[in-house]
Amino acid sequence: MDRQEYIEFILDHFNNPRNKGALDDPDMLVNGGNPGCGDVITLFVKLDEQDRIADIKFDGHGCTISMAAASLLTQMVRGKTLAEVQQMDYGKLIDTLGREVVQSRLRCATLAMDTLQGGAREYPSRKALGQKLIQPIVLAHTLLTE
Ligand code: FES
Repeated sequence: MDRQEYIEFILDHFNNPRNKGALDDPDMLVNGGNPGCGDVITLFVKLDEQDRIADIKFDGHGCTISMAAASLLTQMVRGKTLAEVQQMDYGKLIDTLGREVVQSRLRCATLAMDTLQGGAREYPSRKALGQKLIQPIVLAHTLLTE
């Protein structure tokens, strides 16, 4: 794809986000944010018995690239185990968004992945205690309007 096609791909994910919203009774609810800009994201994850992502949704306030990347990420990780999620690098995400377009905005492009990987690292120790990983929702006002 050329630069313009990547931009259109990003705008499509931003304007028509996939898997936006909340999940009832998630196994994992994690927040992330970029302090420099104040953009925030919340991820809701349902896991199966093998800790494979059975369902995932996101909500957030952020720039075009961060929200498009979150939308894309939810498509990329469905069916992956949390161990597989931890092993993902940024490469495929960045290439799919268009490396040339997002290379100067890597913190935006990786916000959702960093948030999910942080949760994936923490979840096993919670599970060992018989707990879910549920952080306080930072986006309550947006969720209430869903
Ligand atoms: Fe804040 Fe992009 S400007 S995540």
